[in-house]
Amino acid sequence: MKILFIGDIFGNTGRRVLAERLPSIINDFGIDVCVGNGENVSGGRGMTKNYFRKLRKYGLNVITGGNHSFSIEDKDFSFMGEPQVLRPINYPQGNIGHGSTIHTLEDGRSIGVINLIGRTFMHEIPDCPFRVCIDAINELKQKTPIILIDFHAEASSEKAALAWHIDGMASAVIGTHTHVQTADERILPKGTAFITDAGMTGPEASIIGMKPEGVIKKYLLQTYVRFEPSEEGAMLNGVIVDVDDVSGKALSISRIFERVTFDDTL
Ligand SMILES: [Fe+2]
Ligand SMILES: [Fe+2]
Repeated sequence: MKILFIGDIFGNTGRRVLAERLPSIINDFGIDVCVGNGENVSGGRGMTKNYFRKLRKYGLNVITGGNHSFSIEDKDFSFMGEPQVLRPINYPQGNIGHGSTIHTLEDGRSIGVINLIGRTFMHEIPDCPFRVCIDAINELKQKTPIILIDFHAEASSEKAALAWHIDGMASAVIGTHTHVQTADERILPKGTAFITDAGMTGPEASIIGMKPEGVIKKYLLQTYVRFEPSEEGAMLNGVIVDVDDVSGKALSISRIFERVTFDDTL
């Protein structure tokens, strides 16, 4: 099974990149299933029902989340009950939505997807991702050997530790959240593909998606500054993982880093 994972889809630029590039990437690389992180799809923070639908229309089969999943105040989050959208599974009980799902292809093959959030250098204090993910894997393993984990975390060490901890139990651990693609994609000894961070699909001329001026001002003045999403320099970041259908072990992992120009004359 060929899985395309799209790094944090950021704002207007991220959505435009997907609308423009996803169909041809799926076709050119023979992608079977497409998963992407949508926590920043709405102006850089959060996701709405409308944007959830748009991402699905562009070709994403499963949309994962992170610390910004619920960043929009007073919104109707009932769409979080849909099986194609996830929020971190280790958020405390009582939150709406779910943190794992099974997606079944037309040919009958299926993939389990788990969304986890880390604890190191994060504001939230969720349940232990190391323990929660073992339970989640064991549950999904009863239905499919192919399991992909989006581990939404800040520290490279925490992401690597989790990947090594569950090596051989899942097909891939893909890091998200930093918006900076790392060059350490590899397959661990027992067959789990791993990358510390898939990167961001959004505006490259930015500081992790936002206009640089506001972020610099915040560092200089140490007081509240409202950040604005950048719309300069579109890029697509992600990885393609090829997985053996029977064993669920990863066969290959490769990065995608594409700069995208829009033809506004069309
Ligand atoms: Fe993000
Ligand atoms: Fe995040």
